[in-house]
Amino acid sequence: MRTNERKIAWGITGAGAFLKECIDLISSFPADKIDVFLSKAGEEVVKIYKLWDRIKGYNLILDKSASSPSCGLFYSGAYSVLIVAPATSNTVAKMVYGIADSLITNIFAQSGKAGIPSIVLPTDVDEGLVSFSPSGKKIVLRRRRIDEENILKLKEMDNVTVVDSVRELKKLLEGLL
Ligand SMILES: Cc1cc2nc3c(=O)[nH]c(=O)nc-3n(C[C@H](O)[C@H](O)[C@H](O)COP(=O)(O)O)c2cc1C
Repeated sequence: MRTNERKIAWGITGAGAFLKECIDLISSFPADKIDVFLSKAGEEVVKIYKLWDRIKGYNLILDKSASSPSCGLFYSGAYSVLIVAPATSNTVAKMVYGIADSLITNIFAQSGKAGIPSIVLPTDVDEGLVSFSPSGKKIVLRRRRIDEENILKLKEMDNVTVVDSVRELKKLLEGLL
């Protein structure tokens, strides 16, 4: 799996955990290498964390429609890989049950159907994950059993790789490029 000339599709959902590190990683790529897809909550949360300016130079695809027509791009050979990072517990739950009712869950489902590999960084990878509120306050996140079970199901899905840190995601991407 090499990215070659094709682009990376990067989905951002409405999570504060890992968000800044993911945007740091996106920013390390030229704008013509990545298209950034945002869920409605993703758009809001990026703005709440005041990180919008860091991504506004990229081709941004927002969640403004019911049927997500931009999914067609996943059948045009435009993308070599889909990354969803960070992925909320909500989006992960939908992914593992085959629900496709938002931009990110649609592109994940369509990537699967088009044979495009996906890499997902869920926010609930670990018990006691340390995150930060928009005001910079440290938050320790408990992991619910349902989220743990959903991540295990995600790991069993075909053509899906689950990573548990931005560092692992970065390493994987370096291997692809
Ligand atoms: C500031 C802020 C930070 C959030 N961080 C997280 C998070 O780290 N993980 C998570 O699962 N949900 C988080 N949420 C909640 C999600 O945004 C919410 O569940 C939303 O419905 C997810 O929608 P999406 O999966 O379509 O992006 C956060 C919400 C806000 C307002």
